[in-house]
Amino acid sequence: MNLEGKVAVVTGAGQGIGREISLFYAKHGANVVVGDLNLDSAEQVAREIEEIGSKGFAQKVDVSEKESAQGLIQAAIDHFGGIDILVNNAGITRDAMLHKMTEEQFEQVLDVHMKGTFLCMQAATVHMRQKQKGKIVNISSIAGKVGNMGQVNYAGAKAGIVGMTKAAAKELAKFQVNVNAVQPGFIDTDMTRAVPEKVRQLKIAEIPMQRVGEPLDIAKAVLFLSSDYSDYMTGNVLEVTGGRFM
Ligand SMILES: NC(=O)c1ccc[n+]([C@@H]2O[C@H](COP(=O)([O-])OP(=O)(O)OC[C@H]3O[C@@H](n4cnc5c(N)ncnc54)[C@H](O)[C@@H]3O)[C@@H](O)[C@H]2O)c1
Repeated sequence: MNLEGKVAVVTGAGQGIGREISLFYAKHGANVVVGDLNLDSAEQVAREIEEIGSKGFAQKVDVSEKESAQGLIQAAIDHFGGIDILVNNAGITRDAMLHKMTEEQFEQVLDVHMKGTFLCMQAATVHMRQKQKGKIVNISSIAGKVGNMGQVNYAGAKAGIVGMTKAAAKELAKFQVNVNAVQPGFIDTDMTRAVPEKVRQLKIAEIPMQRVGEPLDIAKAVLFLSSDYSDYMTGNVLEVTGGRFM
């Protein structure tokens, strides 16, 4: 899967799954705009990309702010001359049981996941429509399929991303822009390291493959959906869960 000469924009790329996707893209020849709220970590990933031999550019972004999201896409145009691939990966959790969840916790999660995905897709597809080519991969979660206790906000947002993916896929198919989603299961990153050990063991017991996923497991599926190998796929949701909740 060769991405030589392609330009990818990855949000939430300073660590975890987004970082791994960015490095995996670089290994396959793509130049990457590394977007993150945390500029220091984005710059570190951009340096790692350069060490691999591709070009990396770090951009501070808050995907939930329109001008910031537009600035991220513009960075790809200004620095690399266009955008071929967008990965909406930035994410947060603000867990609380329904009866205790504040409006702020609800809105923060929807803003980053849903509004952020909307704003970045909107800004990127201006260019992809003109070019009549593009690949968008939205990172949902298996929580969007099965729900999770304490995550009414997060599960709702991740299910919403599936709906947005399918609607955008229908609108953009005639422009040869593919829009697909990935639903990771339990992946070993800072986000899941916050989970108490007892809960972690319970979750692992639910996984037929009997191991937590690695960020690279997600990066492989994302690379496939960004490559020519998935040209006839759009509006799909790939579950990358080790078989959990199949
Ligand atoms: N780790 C898992 O098990 C798992 C499972 C399913 C889905 N996911 C999803 O995968 C994605 C990546 O998760 P992760 O585990 O790597 O998380 P992570 O917390 O390690 O990384 C998330 C990154 O997003 C950035 N970010 C947060 N808010 C942002 C904003 N407003 N604008 C720009 N960047 C922002 C953070 O700075 C951070 O670098 C998220 O969308 C998450 O919901 C993760």
